[in-house]
Amino acid sequence: MEIIFIEQSKAILEEPDMIAALSNLSALINESFDRLNWAGFYFAKNGELVLGPFQGKVACTHIPFDKGVCGLTYRTCSTQIVPDVHAVKDHIACDSASRSELCVPVMVNGSCVLEIDLDSPEPDRFDQDTADIFNRLADLITDAWITYGWTA
Ligand code: SME
Repeated sequence: MEIIFIEQSKAILEEPDMIAALSNLSALINESFDRLNWAGFYFAKNGELVLGPFQGKVACTHIPFDKGVCGLTYRTCSTQIVPDVHAVKDHIACDSASRSELCVPVMVNGSCVLEIDLDSPEPDRFDQDTADIFNRLADLITDAWITYGWTA
């Protein structure tokens, strides 16, 4: 599954339009991984995180850099695997069904420009193997971002 997912992601990232490509990637993630209730992107834009293409319930549109799992991912520029979102003091619950979360930064020239965010209704849904797949996806998005000259 992992190899197919990465190959399909590469095919989607042949699309040079940022919103078109990220929209299809959110759909691919949603259909490729089970036990998800939200899969999508936040852009780092104008000093905050702003909702991008996603699959799932209506979500927070603006997240400050100092809040939530997404804010922590931005501040640390590192992938966050959260086995129990209820244990995170400032976790932002966009969907009350969410129990675990994976958030991955997309880095361009040393800055986090975008985040991949996944929520699951199952506790401890995301392990290091899953994180590694999404770290690989983040690298592919970095390449596309630079190649196509995307901006948030
Ligand atoms: N849970 C995130 C907010 C984004 S939603 O999950 C889609 C957070 O705590 O930053």
